[in-house]
Amino acid sequence: MIDGCGRTIDHLRLSLTDYCNLACRYCVPEDAPSPSQMIDTEFAFQVVRWLSRDHGIRNLRLTGGEPLLFPGLAPLIERFGTLESLHEISLTTNAQALAQHALALRAAGLSRVNVSLDTLDPQRFSYITRGGRIDRTLAGIEAAVEAGLTPVKINVVAQRGLNHDELPDIAYWGLSRGCVVRFLEVMPIGPLTHVADQHLVPAAEMLERLGRHFELSPIATRPGQPATDYAATAAGLRGVIGIIAPTTKPFCDRCRRLRLTSRGELVPCVHDRSSTCLAGAWDGQRLDVALADHLLADAIAAKPEVGPRNQLITMTALGG
Ligand code: 5AD
Repeated sequence: MIDGCGRTIDHLRLSLTDYCNLACRYCVPEDAPSPSQMIDTEFAFQVVRWLSRDHGIRNLRLTGGEPLLFPGLAPLIERFGTLESLHEISLTTNAQALAQHALALRAAGLSRVNVSLDTLDPQRFSYITRGGRIDRTLAGIEAAVEAGLTPVKINVVAQRGLNHDELPDIAYWGLSRGCVVRFLEVMPIGPLTHVADQHLVPAAEMLERLGRHFELSPIATRPGQPATDYAATAAGLRGVIGIIAPTTKPFCDRCRRLRLTSRGELVPCVHDRSSTCLAGAWDGQRLDVALADHLLADAIAAKPEVGPRNQLITMTALGG
């Protein structure tokens, strides 16, 4: 699938539910209603089958909300695993419930996980996530490594005043467990633009802070990867640190993504409010592929060259 700007679209982010057991301050507005839309399993399967078989989607990322809260996750992954044109199935999670699910998810065919971890301090973690338990997330990461859901990538959203002083410590923690550690600029998504403006730590500053503790040398970027990766070494430790800079170095020109929300909307750009509802092509049992093809063409045509930053819905609905 090639869009109007010549970009190959082969990554699908599928939000299984907009429900999350945490409410990170950069992701969920304070007064947000608590959503709990679960995608229809059969709809999700048929859409992924259609997109992978007919439209070249190769990478599937399961997101939310919190995808571990989706009932029947492992069996659904197993079904996705039967789709030969899919090359990889990964999952983004807060890992609060990963320790108990890691082995079953691996057995079902999940390739790897990305885990959100913004701090190593229990109080800060509870503050940033509005009530999360850090011991659970740390145990979840260790269980994922042990289960072979590797490389486990740790996502750290750098936030001034909340964790900007902790970036090297988190990198040490992750690298010493064999994880890739990626630092993200906070994005102005939906109603939380002011949070991003207030807390943004630019990539250049992240690099400077990390560079005081690690020797960093750039590694060539794979297509579709928004991160700039660095081989990092320090005191006997080696590993990969990535920087993702959607604000100071937007990667729209390299974007290969399409999103599907748990309400069945195709969202071609995380920064743009345009979406195309696939519901009309679903009668409760079968996807009308001919109609879905038309709707997909509309969605892809609407993928902007550069994200206009007018997104209205929150990341939990969009699929992180
Ligand atoms: N800015 C940057 N990343 C965000 N995420 C969610 N909201 C934002 C935001 N405003 C990403 C984080 C998290 C994943 C689930 O979604 O990387 O780890």
